[in-house]
Amino acid sequence: MLKKLFSKDDIAEAVRRLARSIEKDFPNEEILLVCLLKGSFMFTADLIRNISNNVRIDFMRVSSYGNSMKSKGYINITKDLEEDIKGQNVIIVEDIIDSGLTLKSIRKLLQARKPKKLKICALIDKKAGREAKIEGDYIGMAVDDGFIVGYGIDYAEQYRNLPDIYIIENGASEGRTI
Ligand code: IMP
Ligand code: MG
Repeated sequence: MLKKLFSKDDIAEAVRRLARSIEKDFPNEEILLVCLLKGSFMFTADLIRNISNNVRIDFMRVSSYGNSMKSKGYINITKDLEEDIKGQNVIIVEDIIDSGLTLKSIRKLLQARKPKKLKICALIDKKAGREAKIEGDYIGMAVDDGFIVGYGIDYAEQYRNLPDIYIIENGASEGRTI
């Protein structure tokens, strides 16, 4: 059963707030958004429309989950960036930070390519699941626990098309807007 956690209005407000923070940190600078496929495609599409800087986009796909709900703790790059990120202001755009293992690996990999700056923007932070020492620089929403779907985020490739964000119900979990 799906329970709505964040409406499209909550999401739009969070996206606008994230865009303002990014603009503030990078005044008059060019930015490269790295959209991590597939989960953050919708989020990135909304975010980029709210940023007034000169902004480029590139895509990367890593797999860390099969159709299960738990991170395997390692990543496999199935699609790499096309841009050379050396000297660029790079913002990794991720749907959810859970254990943080995926982002930790990606950050290390991208850092080795010598960007000017490397930041992390995540729509949802699941702090309770954290195993790696990593935090997002820009966070949209926080949830305590539970499995999230909708707004690009899937469970076994389902539910990406839902405009709002839902939790798959199996207990009590509260979402909060920031
Ligand atoms: P981590 O390595 O444990 O931080 O896992 C992060 C990745 O797992 C995210 O990019 C998501 O694709 C996926 N993920 C984590 N939690 C959820 C969830 O609640 N719903 C759907 N995907 C999730
Ligand atoms: Mg993902």
